[in-house]
Amino acid sequence: MKPVAGIHNPKAAAFAEHRHEKVCAKCHEGAGPGMGSYVIHEKRPWSQQTREDFPALYWSTVFFLALAGGVFIFFMPYTTVWAWREARQHWENRHEKRKEPEKRVLVERFTRSERWMHTVLVISFMALSVTGVAWMYIETGLGKTLALPFGGGDGAVWVHRMFGLFLMTIFTAHVVYLIRSALVGKKGYLSGPDSLVWTWSDFKAVHQHMSWLFGRREHPVFDRWSWWQKFDYWAVWWGLLIVGTTGLLMFDSVLTTSVLPGWMMNVARWVHKIEAILAMAHIFVVHFFIESYRPSAFPLNAHIFHGAAELEALEKEHPAWIERMRAEGKLEERIVTQPPRAVQIAFFGFGLSMVALGLLLLLGMLFFAVDLSF
Ligand code: HEC
Repeated sequence: MKPVAGIHNPKAAAFAEHRHEKVCAKCHEGAGPGMGSYVIHEKRPWSQQTREDFPALYWSTVFFLALAGGVFIFFMPYTTVWAWREARQHWENRHEKRKEPEKRVLVERFTRSERWMHTVLVISFMALSVTGVAWMYIETGLGKTLALPFGGGDGAVWVHRMFGLFLMTIFTAHVVYLIRSALVGKKGYLSGPDSLVWTWSDFKAVHQHMSWLFGRREHPVFDRWSWWQKFDYWAVWWGLLIVGTTGLLMFDSVLTTSVLPGWMMNVARWVHKIEAILAMAHIFVVHFFIESYRPSAFPLNAHIFHGAAELEALEKEHPAWIERMRAEGKLEERIVTQPPRAVQIAFFGFGLSMVALGLLLLLGMLFFAVDLSF
């Protein structure tokens, strides 16, 4: 018996070798031998049984679960202490007077293209989340309800695939743009204070911010980006690379298995699922905490939508950036006027409804998890 890669149970492997011709190709037109090693009705991927029979699935699942766990073990206590620290600070400063709206100076925090990029990302991410959860939970009331606007599970999967391709295209355009900027020698993308590249001083800022949480040190002085903004930017990269590649692998199982062994489809599906849950949990809990739930952002920090941030607030969160622009005489160019009230309300409504949708999805996923059959 010739063993099939990834399956260590000789009986299953022998069966896998031959069934594709007889069984799979009946429905999956053109299914080749590669499809044979796909494990239908696989056991729980983190079970002892899987560890013995299908180590590739077991170890990739364990790796990504550990990654997801690690992110949350770090961020849950962190954000909790952060909320408490800010609440206390707000209480202490409760008598501080704020400038009247007319007297506030506004600075363009994000450029028009940055705002557009974020909005496109928000819409794609939410569409992918809703349709992805609809499919993941399709056997439950949650999945069926979420799939309703798409005419059922198949429609939801179709929309999911379209948005997946769309997001990968946008991401590719972003990478091309970065490469081009670097090639034409545009400054500030790869190094320097405007760059999003993570440096040693960001690690130091994490440490200092942690000390600040416990009242031991001053709040770190951020330049253009705080460490959590850089983290979130790279989180999108890592998430898109992992969820995107596994998604592409699942796009056409016959095509994929004509090149790769079928058992990689099992791995791709689980890695896609775990990484997507991590991405949703991170956005709906941590990112929304930073930009919406925490006292200094509550109910929503809408800078990323209309671009205008109060100079006074920026002097607190990004003093080094403001200082630098002043010194270079560039601050004047960035002074903007208040966006029209209707625009502000529209952005606020959009942002807040995304926060609400994210929270509802997360609660729904937790609530209906017991109904899922693993
Ligand atoms: C009776 C028809 C039928 C047979 C036989 C069959 N499949 Fe499928 N298979 C389907 C259908 C229908 C889907 C769902 C397609 C969708 O959701 O778009 C599916 C989905 C899949 C998927 C999920 C990825 C995808 O392409 O959507 C994999 C992987 C898969 N089958 C592998 C196999 C393997 C391996 C065999 C042989 C052991 C097999 N199938 C036999 C009908 C069949």
